[in-house]
Formats: sequence, structure tokens, C-alpha cells
Amino acid sequence: MADQATRLRQMVHSESPQTPISSTQAEAWANVRVIAITSGKGGVGKTNIAVNLAIALRNRGHRVLVIDADLGMANVDILLGATSRKHLLDLIRPEVSLEDVIVETQHGLQYISGGSGIEKALEYDHAEKVLLQQKLADCAARADIILVDTGAGLGRNVMDFILAADEVLLVTTPEPTSLTDAYAVMKAYSIYASQKNLRLIINRVYEVKESREVAQKLQRAAEKFLHMPVDCLGYVFEDTSVTKAVRRQTPLLNAEPNTAAARCIDALAEALITGNEMHVKRGWKGFLQQIFKFST
Ligand SMILES: Nc1ncnc2c1ncn2[C@@H]1O[C@H](COP(=O)(O)OP(=O)(O)OP(=O)(O)O)[C@@H](O)[C@H]1O
Ligand SMILES: [Mg+2]
Repeated sequence: MADQATRLRQMVHSESPQTPISSTQAEAWANVRVIAITSGKGGVGKTNIAVNLAIALRNRGHRVLVIDADLGMANVDILLGATSRKHLLDLIRPEVSLEDVIVETQHGLQYISGGSGIEKALEYDHAEKVLLQQKLADCAARADIILVDTGAGLGRNVMDFILAADEVLLVTTPEPTSLTDAYAVMKAYSIYASQKNLRLIINRVYEVKESREVAQKLQRAAEKFLHMPVDCLGYVFEDTSVTKAVRRQTPLLNAEPNTAAARCIDALAEALITGNEMHVKRGWKGFLQQIFKFST
């Protein structure tokens, strides 16, 4: 272990004496849109929305990378019917390159599995973090949009990802428990996020009116108690085609693009592209720096 750490330190220092990022790299990184998809309660549809949203964005000509950062239940690959041989943290091994951990799926998406134990990255020493960051930097050259599928709840790792991303999509269903937990996420975000850009997605609704009522409840609470304006990006209908697609391990947008749920997710992609984007973006650079806690 000690030997590996020493080797890493030597490698990193020989490549980059002080700063972990070159200025040209930094410029490219800043232009990538980094969007975290999260929820308070688990099982509300984050991963299905992340994967299908990625396909809808891809269909609009964007280069999309999905990062599965759900520590407990990494399952983006299950929905994509893809297998990743290597995980994000394998990058810490000198012989592993970014190409080795990125899976190009048959759906035209790029995908990185966080694997279990991504939280270990936070405990890496400076040299190891620099190495990881240097290798991950090149994601910015391969994608215009990076979607980060986080776990549910307020755990340290989930919060780290949410706070590092420029945009947050908070998924909730109309169930009271899901709403209460979504509010808890909004509250933590309102306290800790330096630039606030959180939008709601209401999943599993039976009618449009229901989605409006649910969104308004959360928006009013955010306004009144957190003094934070929150937009709603859209809603997704309750639809058995979602479960069927999961069982077939084929993304809904490919398997049944004309179902109600698929059309809703397509509309979410349209809203993401045409809606207001952040004025001050930190991009992939800001995301990595925040995750690895670099000050520059
Ligand atoms: N719009 C929908 N209509 C019907 N069923 C849905 C819908 N969205 C999600 N589901 C069901 O909920 C299940 C859980 O979805 P998903 O795995 O995307 O949730 P998640 O929030 O990522 O869960 P976790 O917190 O465990 O990561 C799906 O397998 C599917 O059966
Ligand atoms: Mg999930």
C-alpha cells in the first residue's frame, strides 16, 4: 500500500508540480453542464429518469455521460443492459485509463460506474485525488452534459455530489413520505449550496393537475421557510411501461418511446435544453474540485 502511494505521489508530482489542472483543461471543463439527479426518499425513479433523460438528450444531438454515483445501489448499468468491467475508483491504479472505465453503450450513451465504495475517494490523500482528478478531467472533452445519478437522502456523499453540481434535479412522487424527504433535501441544499439551482421532477403522477398541486406544495414551502425559489422542470406519469422496460433491461425511451411516461421524459429533456441555464457555471472543473476539495 505504502509503495503504491509513494509511486502515485511521484507520478503526480512529476506530471504536475503544483496545480492539479492546466488552464486549457480548465477552460474546456467549465463548459460542460453537470446535472445531479437526486431524491429524499429512495426508489422514487431517479435512475429511470436519469437513463431515459440521457437518451432523450442524446437524441437531440448532445454527447451525454451518465455517472452512477449511487453508493448503495449502483444500477444504471442494469437499466442500460450494459456491464462495466472497471469502476471509477479503479482510476487510482496507474495502469487504468479513463477509456477503461467509460462504457460506450449501444444506446449511444457513455457511462461510468461509481461502483461501491466511491466514498473512499474522499479519504484519499492529496496526490491520489490529483491523479483521479487528472484522469477524470478528460470527461469534459467527451461530453456536453454529465448526468450524475446520486443515491437518496442526506448522506455526506449524496450532499457532496449535489453541492458540487451546477444543477440539481430533485425527484419526488406525490406520496407524503416522499414529499417530506424531498423537503429535507431542499432545506439542506438551501443552507449549504453557494449557488442555488434546484428543480423538481414529480414522478408517478396520475394527472397533470396532481403534479401541479404537488409541485406547488414544495415550492410554497421552499419560498416561505427556506426563502429559496424552486422551479418545476416537469412530471412523469405513472405508467406500467416503466416497470416493463426495467424488466427487459432496455431503456423505456428506446423500447416504447410513445408511452405516456416516455413522452414526459422527452419533454423533461426539451425543458432542460430550452429552459434557463445557470449564468455562472462551474462546470466539470468546479464539480471535481468541490468533490476532491481543492481550493483552486
Ligand atoms: N413513472 C413510473 N411509473 C411506474 N413505475 C415507476 C415509475 N418510475 C419509477 N417506477 C418504478 O419504481 C422503481 C424504482 O425506480 P428507480 O430505480 O429509478 O428509483 P431510484 O430513485 O433510482 O431508486 P434508488 O433510490 O434505489 O436508487 C422502478 O423499477 C419502477 O418499477
Ligand atoms: Mg437509483
